[in-house]
Amino acid sequence: MILNGKTLVITGVASGIGAELARLARFQGATVIGVDRNQPQLSLDAFHQADLGDPDSIATLVSRLPERVHGLCNIAGVPGTAPAATVARVNYLGLRLLSQQLVGRLGQGGAIVNVASILGAEWPQRLELHRELAQISDFAAAQAWLEAHPVAQATCYQYFKEALIVWSFVQSQTWLREFGVRLNCVAPGPVFTPILGDFVSMLGEERVARDSQRMLRPALADEVAAVIAFLCSDASRWINGANLPVDGGLAASYV
Ligand SMILES: NC(=O)c1ccc[n+]([C@@H]2O[C@H](COP(=O)([O-])OP(=O)(O)OC[C@H]3O[C@@H](n4cnc5c(N)ncnc54)[C@H](O)[C@@H]3O)[C@@H](O)[C@H]2O)c1
Repeated sequence: MILNGKTLVITGVASGIGAELARLARFQGATVIGVDRNQPQLSLDAFHQADLGDPDSIATLVSRLPERVHGLCNIAGVPGTAPAATVARVNYLGLRLLSQQLVGRLGQGGAIVNVASILGAEWPQRLELHRELAQISDFAAAQAWLEAHPVAQATCYQYFKEALIVWSFVQSQTWLREFGVRLNCVAPGPVFTPILGDFVSMLGEERVARDSQRMLRPALADEVAAVIAFLCSDASRWINGANLPVDGGLAASYV
């Protein structure tokens, strides 16, 4: 029962990794408050419908959440088959906004876990751009910066997962000092969830065929959920600013 007594806010709770984490976290003793744009088909302690790409919807959500929580798991996301502006708002800008608004309620010993991706692995190639964007903490100002620095539709998913990893690294230093809150990412390889097919359309058959020769199989969602649960637990209390691969060794195979 490694999450006994903890209250976790889990986004993307209606499907895939988020739904598996909610089941596991409740089994491990947590109180789970789920968030999604869709109604979940599982038991939760509370559920709030919200569009996590919309600042007004996030403000309403935050006003409904308790004053004290212990963990925030930012799992909701859209694939790169969605319009680039939506990918930016949901996978990056909205995730940051929700985290900024909740970090003060997490307090000493709290944890935030973001779901990045193996597809964010090339962040060092665009580090300066991602660092510049990470410094612009305001949602609208960051959106304006993105209008001046447009991101190609074909690679927007990769770009915003890279940006998320860099923002998490940067923010993890200040939030641990200021609030006692740890901030980490997990970087899954392919996972059997409803959006796996979108990744095949996004990356093309050739890349997918190459990757499938390098790995035994895609992950099951519960295999990723277990790592997120660990990163929310006190057992990981000295892990901060990490981007943990959960990919069966796929990223390592590119060395
Ligand atoms: N499936 C994979 O192969 C894979 C690999 C690496 C990373 N990821 C990441 O894992 C995370 C979870 O994805 P999944 O595979 O479980 O997919 P999924 O589609 O099963 O779950 C995503 C959930 O996010 C919710 N969501 C999407 N947009 C939203 C919005 N605007 N507001 C509120 N909720 C919204 C969806 O309704 C859905 O319930 C995503 O961030 C994704 O990028 C997935």
